[in-house]
Amino acid sequence: MQSFQPTRRAVLAGMGASALTARAGFAETVPIPLTAQRAMAQIAPEGYPQTEVWSYDGTLPGPELRLAQDTRLQRRFVNQLDVPSTVHWHGIRIDNAMDGVAGLTQDAVPPGASFDYDFLVPDAGTYWYHAHTNSMEQVARGLSGALVVEERHAPDVDRDEVLMLDDWLLDPETAQIAPDFNHPMDLSHGGRFGNLIGTNGHYALTLTAKRNERLRLRLINAANARIFVLRLAGLSGWQVALDGMPLPAPEPVPQELVLAPAQRVDLIVDVIAEDAAIEQLGNDQEWHRQVGLEISGQASRTRRAAPASLPANPNMDAPVLAQARALEMKIEGGAMGRMPMSRMRGMMQDGKFWTLGGQAGPAAAPFARLSQGEPVRLRMINDTAFPHAMHLHGMHFREVLAEGQLGPMRDTFLTDAGASHEIAFTAENPGKWLLHCHMLAHAAAGMTSWIEVA
Ligand code: C2O
Ligand code: CU
Repeated sequence: MQSFQPTRRAVLAGMGASALTARAGFAETVPIPLTAQRAMAQIAPEGYPQTEVWSYDGTLPGPELRLAQDTRLQRRFVNQLDVPSTVHWHGIRIDNAMDGVAGLTQDAVPPGASFDYDFLVPDAGTYWYHAHTNSMEQVARGLSGALVVEERHAPDVDRDEVLMLDDWLLDPETAQIAPDFNHPMDLSHGGRFGNLIGTNGHYALTLTAKRNERLRLRLINAANARIFVLRLAGLSGWQVALDGMPLPAPEPVPQELVLAPAQRVDLIVDVIAEDAAIEQLGNDQEWHRQVGLEISGQASRTRRAAPASLPANPNMDAPVLAQARALEMKIEGGAMGRMPMSRMRGMMQDGKFWTLGGQAGPAAAPFARLSQGEPVRLRMINDTAFPHAMHLHGMHFREVLAEGQLGPMRDTFLTDAGASHEIAFTAENPGKWLLHCHMLAHAAAGMTSWIEVA
């Protein structure tokens, strides 16, 4: 008798449910579904209508997925939308086949079909998941959620809260998501910005805490284009991780905390006043309450000493710069840039406004072919009039600072208009990895490239 091999990549379109059940009882359990579906959510203030969103499991944001370090995430993605979709697990050092990039690592999952995601999470930290098929529209419509990988020994805190910062572009009358996703103005300028800013799917989120409590706050910027500039009020503490990866030592939270699209920061903060909040610098240059804290009562313990650093994730040696292959990639195009209009006009016919490494959109061949284990330094030159949030899939990198010092590990870095940065990493993870701007209108309009590690 033929033995049953669990299929890790079974696309189940057309496969009968009974066949699945029979197999499940025999050799493996059916993974828990993660279902993309339409849902209603009260994003706008009470009194406004609910907004129709595209959700995971009917909630906005999608369910918070939490698991222990070094375990497997197993989810059956079920697509109940009427468009194809995939799920990308942002920041995870993942098996390439599970990376969720439609057209590069898998075929998009058609409406009515499903796909089994099954991968190891080697690193503790704060990550997130989101659609990676037409992501400019699908993420803006709500397809994202938090993915938290817990340390073996969690730091000593009283509460651990995920805060997904986002903005939505809503029709001010109906509170429905504005459907013009290919607006040339968004594509060629700063991207698609929302007119309602919020956290965890609500425009004004309030948490409860006690005076003197210690909180771990996991901030995730899930917005399509907005760079959040934040400050703390009534809270004092440290940042302990960036983009999931622990800092070598906790650092005081900066006066102004800048979080580009897709970036995360983990804070450990103490409640030091009766009125506490995270505030956000608005376009009007005023500070607005992003997340309020309702303080009731006093924690029994008094204030504690600074936290220890989080344990480092495994096998994260810094790349050896002296042996690194040097690459250079230019970001060009966009409004008010230096790209000649003759070039731009041709690109615009395909809806493209930007180039990354000289290409508008992912080319058939990778930007670079790297050997597994090879150290790389990549200079990125932002020759445009806009900031960009550059994200590499599958591997974290560090910025090369003055005198060959290396910055903290990140998976997304912010480059300002006209700036040049060099990042370095070891090409340790085999596969095809996307490199793109996480301002999703930019990614759609040309700022998407990829590398191959073999
Ligand atoms: Cu957060 Cu290519 O993705
Ligand atoms: Cu960009």
